[in-house]
Amino acid sequence: MLENIAALETTAPPRLAAAGSLEELATLESELLGKKSVLASYKSQLGGLDPDERRAVGGALNRARLTLEDAVLARRLVLERDQRRLQLNAERLDLTEAAPGNEAGHLHLVTQAMETLEDVFVGMGFTVAEGPEVETDWNNFGALNFPPDHPARDMYDTLYVEMGEPGSTVLRTHTSPVQVRVMSGQEPPFYMVMPGRVFRQDTPDATHMPVFHQIEGLVVDRNITFADLAGTLDAFTKAFFGGDFTSRLRPSYFPFTEPSAEFDIQRPDGSWLELGGCGMVHPNVLSNCGIDPEHWQGFAFGFGLDRLGASAHGVADLRDLFTNDIRFLSQF
Ligand code: DAH
Repeated sequence: MLENIAALETTAPPRLAAAGSLEELATLESELLGKKSVLASYKSQLGGLDPDERRAVGGALNRARLTLEDAVLARRLVLERDQRRLQLNAERLDLTEAAPGNEAGHLHLVTQAMETLEDVFVGMGFTVAEGPEVETDWNNFGALNFPPDHPARDMYDTLYVEMGEPGSTVLRTHTSPVQVRVMSGQEPPFYMVMPGRVFRQDTPDATHMPVFHQIEGLVVDRNITFADLAGTLDAFTKAFFGGDFTSRLRPSYFPFTEPSAEFDIQRPDGSWLELGGCGMVHPNVLSNCGIDPEHWQGFAFGFGLDRLGASAHGVADLRDLFTNDIRFLSQF
């Protein structure tokens, strides 16, 4: 018995150390240490041995058991660590990593919509401008002909920034303040589009997000009329959506345009999609930006990008655009 135990103590640990998987290790463990193992059967025979032999064999059995248990534990730790590493590797989401077939990744679908829109307008002779997301109350509202405390401000659930005088700094509620930045201190003519991120105090749901994207358009030149506005938006509609789309304008109100309109597009199936607002730049806005309304006229428009990008891809819930879930994003 003692010889067999000593032999087991030398042969078993290398076998355990060579186990290739946790399952293999469990099988070996029950073979070497389980109820039907050699060690277990010797233990059950201890009662039949004389006292000296019993003490010697009992001690040897205990040492052998400890040695084997240590070997099982050591191998299990290694195998578990390897398995964890494999699992982590399988589940890792490294957005900077070049995955096979997706070497460069791709732009978010809202960014794609934004860039396509920019391309269409650049093709029509517009240039692109951007402004900051934190704005002065003057640029976001005042210069755009919203008088202080005017109810038109309630159109926007404004988020204020604690900076300067209370109420003087906002997260821009629309991209229209970029019009003010473009016009102030520069000479017309302007043919500009201004994409960007905007913010409103809103509870997220399938069709609203507190953070979303707009693209603003501004044209200021001599003898610009409402017909130029309608023609530009219709040319844009056909260039962006396709020749079988049309557009219409419905009377509306914005403090910074007069007259003002809502801009809708009609799909080939006859259904309408409301895109945004537009109108002739209000003379007060031109004056606020140092441009003489007697000599210059303009039109402006602004519309949301997120719904446009979402509806183009059949995305029903705007919140999906912001989850950063690679399984969602990689579809577009
Ligand atoms: N800024 C408006 C909004 O966010 C949209 C808009 C309407 C922009 C008319 C314009 C415009 O430039 O002329 O609701």
